[in-house]
Amino acid sequence: MRRVDKNKFGPWAVVTGASSGIGKEFVRQLAASSINVVLVARRLELLEELGRDLASTYGIEYRAVGLDLTSLDFMVVLQNATDDLDIGLVISNAGTGIPGEFLTIDHNTLLDMVHLSVIAHLSIAHHFGDKLVKRGRGGLVLVSAMGALQGLPYMANDSATNAYIINLGEALNVELKQYGINVTVLIPGATDTPIIDKFGIDVSDMPIKPMSVEQCVDEALAALQANHPIIIPGRLNRLMYAILPRRLAVQLNGKMIARALQP
Ligand SMILES: NC(=O)c1ccc[n+]([C@@H]2O[C@H](COP(=O)([O-])OP(=O)(O)OC[C@H]3O[C@@H](n4cnc5c(N)ncnc54)[C@H](OP(=O)(O)O)[C@@H]3O)[C@@H](O)[C@H]2O)c1
Repeated sequence: MRRVDKNKFGPWAVVTGASSGIGKEFVRQLAASSINVVLVARRLELLEELGRDLASTYGIEYRAVGLDLTSLDFMVVLQNATDDLDIGLVISNAGTGIPGEFLTIDHNTLLDMVHLSVIAHLSIAHHFGDKLVKRGRGGLVLVSAMGALQGLPYMANDSATNAYIINLGEALNVELKQYGINVTVLIPGATDTPIIDKFGIDVSDMPIKPMSVEQCVDEALAALQANHPIIIPGRLNRLMYAILPRRLAVQLNGKMIARALQP
């Protein structure tokens, strides 16, 4: 397993969306590098269970914060829960997707997605970015999606809001470099987490099978330490992005989501 530089990215890391999937694996790999973790998600009992498990396996400290990142005061809660900690790394990962025809999705549901995929990343990057710069070292990982590299029919709002994350992180990589802060946007393709079942996508319908969370997070942490602005994990995913014309990618991915939506 990759060793993360504890002097630069420790002693504490904050990980949102830590109760499941990619976020949970980030927490595990950071704990294995002896970095203490603040676990953030709505399902507090899962965070507590994970924290206890990692504390006993790796001897780290943890803090579990049950928080809905779409709530209006989420940043106040997050600040209060972390202000006394020396945070060297922030993984802004929490997210979801709402497949469906744009016009059939309730307006408030679409706004919640804007909150989760735009406002939460914006506020987290702004608050913790400032703290990291004052500290003079550290890192920020923002998690987007390959579906945001172009428009994604039947997940139009999801791909649009995730595109914000890519542009924000790519720009901050340049701005914060001079202060000793690494910024990387993780752009996963299909990854083996509960989100795949939630979307109802048939794995045999995918051009590339979902990758493991272990590989996804390992590549992300390598890219962060090398201060790459973006990382698309998996050679096949990178190849597909490089060779598939944008218009074709829109059509093929849209057809796959449309098939998943069929009863
Ligand atoms: N897996 C893939 O194929 C894939 C592909 C591209 C991009 N991604 C992105 O990768 C990130 C992680 O997804 P995943 O695959 O690991 O999915 P996952 O297993 O469903 O995990 C999503 C995490 O986000 C948290 N979360 C969701 N809504 C939240 C809210 N309102 N407030 C606080 N926490 C919230 C969930 O925790 P609670 O439910 O406990 O709140 C959970 O910990 C997401 O941003 C996703 O868009 C995943």
